[in-house]
Amino acid sequence: MTKINLLKENIALAMQGGGEKRIEAQHKKGKLSARERLQLLLDEGSFEEIGMLVTHRCKDFGMENEVYPGDGVVTGYGTINGRLVYVYSQDFTVFGGSLSETHAEKIVKIMELALQNGAPVVGLNDSGGARIQEGVVSLGGYADIFHRNVQASGVVPQISAILGPCAGGAVYSPAITDFILMAQNTSYMFVTGPNVVKTVTHETVTSEELGGALTHASKSGVTHFACHNEVECINNIKQLLSYMPQNCEEDAPVYAYDATEESRPTLDDIIPENPNQPYDIKEVISELVDADSFLEVHKDFAENIVVGFARIGGRSIGVVANQPAFLAGVLDINSSRKGARFVRFCDAFNIPLLVLVDVPGFLPGTDQEWNGIIINGAKLLYALSEATVPKITVITRKAYGGAYDVMNSKHIGADLNYAWPTAEIAVMGAKGAAEIIFKKEISEATDPEEKLKEKESDYTEKFANPYRAAARGYIDEVILPSNTRNKLLKGFKMLENKVAKMPKRKHGNIPL
Ligand code: HXC
Repeated sequence: MTKINLLKENIALAMQGGGEKRIEAQHKKGKLSARERLQLLLDEGSFEEIGMLVTHRCKDFGMENEVYPGDGVVTGYGTINGRLVYVYSQDFTVFGGSLSETHAEKIVKIMELALQNGAPVVGLNDSGGARIQEGVVSLGGYADIFHRNVQASGVVPQISAILGPCAGGAVYSPAITDFILMAQNTSYMFVTGPNVVKTVTHETVTSEELGGALTHASKSGVTHFACHNEVECINNIKQLLSYMPQNCEEDAPVYAYDATEESRPTLDDIIPENPNQPYDIKEVISELVDADSFLEVHKDFAENIVVGFARIGGRSIGVVANQPAFLAGVLDINSSRKGARFVRFCDAFNIPLLVLVDVPGFLPGTDQEWNGIIINGAKLLYALSEATVPKITVITRKAYGGAYDVMNSKHIGADLNYAWPTAEIAVMGAKGAAEIIFKKEISEATDPEEKLKEKESDYTEKFANPYRAAARGYIDEVILPSNTRNKLLKGFKMLENKVAKMPKRKHGNIPL
């Protein structure tokens, strides 16, 4: 065999992974092969493979007789919509995509290239975890990857798609990355699987219930997107990347935008007459941002806060908004965690923030207090306060109590604070306030109920509006809802070159 033919044979071997039969079995489960996934993800013809001929070094358990070029992971670089990205795609057809010493080295190699060259890393995960035959070297390999994940955090965007099993320590690399996407019914993530759960806690639970896409999208919040299938998952990755810069020293791509009629008259009627009646903040978001540009993140988790990427005038922004249509938009542990993580991503990658406020306060109760609403609520406060990107706030209705401070108030560094005429900015709702400060007067009145109503309406008149805050300059302007998009277009443009530095330190100590 000539040397040329030998190479051709090795390449052919690498291309077929664990073999036709195993690829067919993968298809039968509704899963694509590692290479098919990369083909869908990357621009046609852009993929350059690195490490195709790497093989494992294990000689135990007859492993020396079973060697596959590439060793269960396809790694390299390519482009998505013309922008450089580093990728790895685990091949379940080779030892279940399990992670050997060399498999880990391949992933580490592309992560280091990504860090040095300032481009995102996308990991397509489909793996039975540490290669059992290799013992500690595969554990070491995982730790080598975790360490690179941490070093790359906040430097280049890191995205993980879970497209098969992801068990044991294998879940921790995705957990450190910025966004996790899962495919429904074909992927799951857990630290210990159903069998161990049964032994230890006597609970009977399926893999899907324990760690499927819908579980992690709605219950744990581990995944940001629960996609219907792998194709949707891969399309979501491309869309997600379109809002992000390549690295922390660049800005996100700017899309062409021609200003037209920017007033949005329907917003003047969106707030109901009755302040306790809900409305959908997503309708407000879609009126304020460029048409069809909103990509909601963490859609099914802590729905009382809405977060996601959008564009205003063709430029990326991050939106954080209380959702009055879910639990009245109250802040609780999960919504604070969700908001804080999103804000920190946007701040790390120079994506300006729009914060829409309609919040009655923090959720009371033993469940919240015992599970640490104090520490968790502080995360959102810390994240918004720490963020140095351009930050604009619009109070649409309620901004009560500590939640007023937390939700990007002027006091914690917002650049522009607007309020609609329907805004109510006060320490608490009028009824509660009247009951406390006029307690004696009400109880001594001949008609206490009437007195309470009178005091409540006094308080409402004084505080349930934006004008006291505007008189102090805490609100820069009270604006018509219909004119809000105009204000945002101009405001974000004005803030485009904002420079704000934090005090010199190693790192802050966000309450984790
Ligand atoms: C070596 C593995 C493997 C592994 C699967 N295979 N997992 N080989 N090491 N970890 C191999 C199987 O032997 C099989 O080989 C092929 O991959 C496909 O596996 P199946 O079991 O036939 O597939 P399926 O029924 O779909 O089940 C997939 C699975 C199961 C759920 C992932 O294989 C499984 O439970 N694997 C072990 C998971 C695990 O315990 N991993 C270690 C986690 S601890 P053949 O030759 O038959 O095709 C860990 C520690 C990391 O990861 C710590 C870091 C901090």
